Amino acid sequence: MKKTLLSIFALSILAIGIQITLTSNASGRAFFASSGNTGAPGESTTCRSCHGSAFSTTVSIVIKDSLRNPITSYIPGTVYNAEFTVNATGAIRYGFQLVSLNSSNSAVNGFSTPNVNTRLVTLGNGRQYAEHAGKSTTNSFGTQWTAPATGTGTVTFYGGGAAVDNNGFIGGDGGNIASFNLPENTSVGFVESTLRNELLVYPNPTRNVIKLKNTSSDVKNAVAELYTISGQLVLTKNVSLKQNNAERLNVSNLENGYYILKISNEGQTVEEKIMIQN
Ligand code: HEC
Repeated sequence: MKKTLLSIFALSILAIGIQITLTSNASGRAFFASSGNTGAPGESTTCRSCHGSAFSTTVSIVIKDSLRNPITSYIPGTVYNAEFTVNATGAIRYGFQLVSLNSSNSAVNGFSTPNVNTRLVTLGNGRQYAEHAGKSTTNSFGTQWTAPATGTGTVTFYGGGAAVDNNGFIGGDGGNIASFNLPENTSVGFVESTLRNELLVYPNPTRNVIKLKNTSSDVKNAVAELYTISGQLVLTKNVSLKQNNAERLNVSNLENGYYILKISNEGQTVEEKIMIQN
């Protein structure tokens, strides 16, 4: 009987222990404390305010397109991947937070489908945070991010990270913040874009075909090459353009994303960034 009571007692202590570890700051600051600590305007503390800098910690924010290439501007409505990395030598566990705001510091949000070690929490002030879902053994976190509507303008991502020693306290850890500005790409529209003055490549973005046309003269023996953003050649075609007759490049079998179209003729090369949305 005594033994049973003792073990019930021990079990409840264990349960309380588990409870504490499950719901603590280690579970995520938005989740546990309804707090943003990324250094974004309107927040009062960062990871470093509490976790200090015993580990010299750096953090980075990268937004990637569907081909896993980092982007420097967003196309409205496009789905990207937001990646957050915390680096510190000797750390055992990692945590982070990421938020996206517009230039008037209003929430942009748009995170969805987080990685397993990442959780999404929206606070009462309307800001959606991506953050660690419990202490993470890996130092990289990620979630999808859908770019906002046309006219939103530059989006700034604010992120905070902590590299920790896994002792359940803030001592011996390290924190840091970073921000990343992502302007809206207003140059890619459903319009014809001019290569040199006379060569037209359209439409852009495109579906299934890229059309080439020369409006002022015949172009003989040109070569069209299509490269992925990482430089892999995916299509080559010899083209001879009769004035005002469109030549078609079939791209229906290619993955969606950005490509670079290079057209070479008589020692000249022109390049155009094309978005394929099949
Ligand atoms: C206001 C102070 C405070 C801020 C700000 C703060 N934390 Fe913490 N954090 C704590 C405390 C206290 C603990 C230890 C007890 C606990 O887990 O609740 C902790 C624990 C942790 C742990 C586990 C530490 C270990 O060694 O076991 C991680 C990971 C963590 N926090 C991540 C973060 C991240 C990431 C941020 C920034 C987005 C952050 N914290 C911001 C107070 C803070």
